[in-house]
Amino acid sequence: MPMLKIFVGTMYGGALDVAEQVKPLFEEAGYEVAIFDQPTLDDLVGSPTDLALFCTSTTGSGDLPGNIVPFARDLEAQSPGLDGLRYGLIALGDSSYGETFCGAGRHLDALLEGQGAKRLGERLEVDAMETFMADDEALPWVEQWIADQQLKVA
Ligand SMILES: Cc1cc2nc3c(=O)[nH]c(=O)nc-3n(C[C@H](O)[C@H](O)[C@H](O)COP(=O)(O)O)c2cc1C
Repeated sequence: MPMLKIFVGTMYGGALDVAEQVKPLFEEAGYEVAIFDQPTLDDLVGSPTDLALFCTSTTGSGDLPGNIVPFARDLEAQSPGLDGLRYGLIALGDSSYGETFCGAGRHLDALLEGQGAKRLGERLEVDAMETFMADDEALPWVEQWIADQQLKVA
């Protein structure tokens, strides 16, 4: 069974909740799913990753949540090269923060792209000003993502 890894960056648990809610959708599509809520770079590169989903909120002024900082720091410092990695990205944010809206998700996206990874489709940006429960937007988005990108393997 191919392995889908979900990497979570969260302060208050919203992004982790999204990861847990979308997990069954990938299982139904034929994947073994692992969620990393204290992600390390080794979680990504130390074992086979057929597909990855990054799910992160933003804190501070466009900053990554603390739990995913070591992952991003090591990605930048070690520059492992991620050619062949395909991923999706769900960013949680709040447009009332203006220019730093979804800053962490955008930064992570740029880091991954800079390592040669390929994002499938567009990034989902969930705005807390418009959507109270991020799951409400993330679940249909993932369903559509799986269909559009033809990710079903079962
Ligand atoms: C202290 C603080 C700072 C934040 N800074 C930003 C920001 O710069 N940009 C943004 O888009 N959202 C910002 N947010 C909004 C969160 O990213 C948003 O509420 C998100 O849904 C929280 O998800 P989580 O429960 O996974 O942490 C901030 C929230 C807090 C409490």
